[in-house]
Amino acid sequence: MSPGTGGRNVSRMATSAWERVVLVGFMGSGKSTVGRHLAVRLGWVFVDLDEAVEAATGAKVADLFRTHGEHAFRQLEAEAGVAATARVRVVIAPGGGWSLVPGRLDGLPDGTLTVWLRVTPETAIRRATGTTRVRPLLSGPDPAARARELIQEREPAYSRARLQLDADRASPSSLVDAIVAYMERSE
Ligand code: S3P
Repeated sequence: MSPGTGGRNVSRMATSAWERVVLVGFMGSGKSTVGRHLAVRLGWVFVDLDEAVEAATGAKVADLFRTHGEHAFRQLEAEAGVAATARVRVVIAPGGGWSLVPGRLDGLPDGTLTVWLRVTPETAIRRATGTTRVRPLLSGPDPAARARELIQEREPAYSRARLQLDADRASPSSLVDAIVAYMERSE
């Protein structure tokens, strides 16, 4: 659409080749916050996979880990992911472990933009432990050391994402700007 032809929907038109965005990254990287803002900006639906699992089971993620174990949680998370990624015009924020299954990011449907919000272990720990939400994988005696270990293990999986953004010092709105700009130039 050229300027002067009623350009209000320029962003929507220019990003139309993309049908969904999946944000990946470690706990505390800002997937849910950025995802909510991005969905508003695009006029799309937002799905947080942890919330979808909690809605489907009526139980908190931390309780599912405790009572049924991580494996059971991963199955519920996978089911929620299948339902979410079948949608279009959707921004998805999975938990930090969802993208670790081999082939999961590469096997997403066409039209899916995967974005890695990359943070240092220090930022992840500060953000992930500074809330009332319990992260079972970081509730051991040395969360910082565990976060460093997990991030190192997980980086190869996160790096399969098409777009990588340094989310350490960036505000949610600047990350949204960067994602929308990428969608516009790469449609
Ligand atoms: C997990 C991340 C959490 C949640 C669960 C496991 C992980 O979600 O799914 O505690 O394995 O990294 P967030 O990344 O939204 O904190």
